[in-house]
Amino acid sequence: MQLSRKVQKLFSFDTVESLWEHVCRWTHPVSSQRLLATIDRAELERLRERYPYRPNARKINAYEDADYWIGVNVKRIQDLWLDRCAPLNILDLGCGPGYFLYLCRLFGHEGLGLDPDDEPFFRGTTQFFDVRRAIARINPQTPLPELGKKFDLVTAHRVCFHRISRTENGEWLEWTPADWEFFINDIRTRFLNLHGRLLLEFNRRPDGSSFFTKELRACFLSQGARIRRWKALLAADPTQRPKFNKSKW
Ligand SMILES: C[S@@+](CC[C@H](N)C(=O)[O-])C[C@H]1O[C@@H](n2cnc3c(N)ncnc32)[C@H](O)[C@@H]1O
Repeated sequence: MQLSRKVQKLFSFDTVESLWEHVCRWTHPVSSQRLLATIDRAELERLRERYPYRPNARKINAYEDADYWIGVNVKRIQDLWLDRCAPLNILDLGCGPGYFLYLCRLFGHEGLGLDPDDEPFFRGTTQFFDVRRAIARINPQTPLPELGKKFDLVTAHRVCFHRISRTENGEWLEWTPADWEFFINDIRTRFLNLHGRLLLEFNRRPDGSSFFTKELRACFLSQGARIRRWKALLAADPTQRPKFNKSKW
C-alpha cells in the first residue's frame, strides 16, 4: 500500500469510528471465555460431521468454530449495548447458525430468528442452541410473513437477502433503493415497537469496497439511517436518527 494511502487510512473517519468502538468495548468488557464455557463444542463438531460442508464452502463459513463466532457475536452484543440494557424482544433476520440469538438469551433477551432453512447445519445448530426460528425467505417488494408480535430490535448481520441472482459476468444483481425503502417501511410499520430499531450489518463488496455505494448511502440516509462503517441503524420513527450508544430502548 502506498504511504499516502496508509496515512489517509490512518486518519480516515472509518478508523476513528473503529477505534471508538474498541474503546467502548474495552470500557464494558464481556468475557467470551465464560460464554464459550456454556457451549458443548464437541457436539458442534459432531453436528458438522453430520452435515458436512458443501463443495467450495469458504472458511469464513466454518460455523462450528465456536471460538471465532462467539468472539464476533460478543462484539455485536457490546456494540448494541445488549450486555447492559433492559430485556428486549429481538428478531434476527437471516439468523444462520443462531450464535447471536443464543448470546442475546444469555443476556436476558428474548429472540426469534428468521431464515429460509436452506442449510441443514443451521437447522442443527439452532436446535442445539434452542433458538426459535420462523422459516421464511425475504424477497424484494414483498412483505415479510406475519410473526404475531412486534420487536424492540430487528437485526440482520452479514446481510445477503438483498442479492437476487448472479449476472453473466459473475456480479450480483441486488436490491435497488426502492427495494430497500419497501423493506425498511415494512419493518418499521409491522415489526418495530414505538422505540424500536433496525440494525443492518453488511459485508464488504468482493473488491473490498463498502456496501454503501453513493446511491445506497443516499437512500439509507434519506430513510433516517445512522451509518457507522458497514452498519446502518434505523429507528421505528423515520424522523429520528438513532444513536448506536444508547442503553434505554
Ligand atoms: C452470511 S449468513 C449470516 C448468518 C448470520 N446472520 C451471521 O452473521 O452469522 C446469511 C444468512 O442469511 C440467510 N438468507 C439468505 N438469503 C435469505 C433470504 N432471501 N431471506 C432470509 N434469509 C436469507 C442465510 O440462510 C444465512 O443464514
